[in-house]
Amino acid sequence: MTENISNFVTQPQLVAQTESSVHHRHDESRETVGVQFIEDARMSARNVDVFYNFGEKQAIKNVSLDIGEREVLSMIGPSGCGKSTFLRCLNRMNDTVDGCVINGSITLDSEDIYSKEQEIVELRSQVAWYSNAQIHSLNQCTTISLMVLGCMVGGY
Ligand SMILES: Nc1ncnc2c1ncn2[C@@H]1O[C@H](COP(=O)(O)OP(=O)(O)O)[C@@H](O)[C@H]1O
Ligand SMILES: [Mg+2]
Repeated sequence: MTENISNFVTQPQLVAQTESSVHHRHDESRETVGVQFIEDARMSARNVDVFYNFGEKQAIKNVSLDIGEREVLSMIGPSGCGKSTFLRCLNRMNDTVDGCVINGSITLDSEDIYSKEQEIVELRSQVAWYSNAQIHSLNQCTTISLMVLGCMVGGY
């Protein structure tokens, strides 16, 4: 059995296999922790699968999770378990990855962010994230200036 982001946010039996993941010595202890589903979620992911290389490689499997207003969540897992893949789904950054296929649904305020009508810039003005690589390239910026930048982009 290998590690996957699904370990942390979905039922244990939904754990996916990934090639690069590490062996887990405590498979029997895998379980969803915290609150997976909430009332009045801002974002909801349901049964999200992500494949790379046109379906050749599955990165995450059957992830379902709600994200609430002002909620702080952490995803913890080994390198390659799918954390960034899941985050990229939330503002459609995976659109830029050739051969990436996403199944399932993700909504923001009950609207399907993968619908044809979805404005990508508008989505990313509300759903944004920095990777550690981006932060290295922005290392002259303070946290405050990054937040101000986000607010400016968001029009706040
Ligand atoms: N652009 C890509 N093409 C093919 N495979 C990828 C790509 N990006 C990530 N992967 C693979 O998907 C899996 C999950 O990666 P990633 O989401 O970056 O994990 P994490 O952020 O938890 O380290 C890994 O096996 C990784 O090699
Ligand atoms: Mg990552």
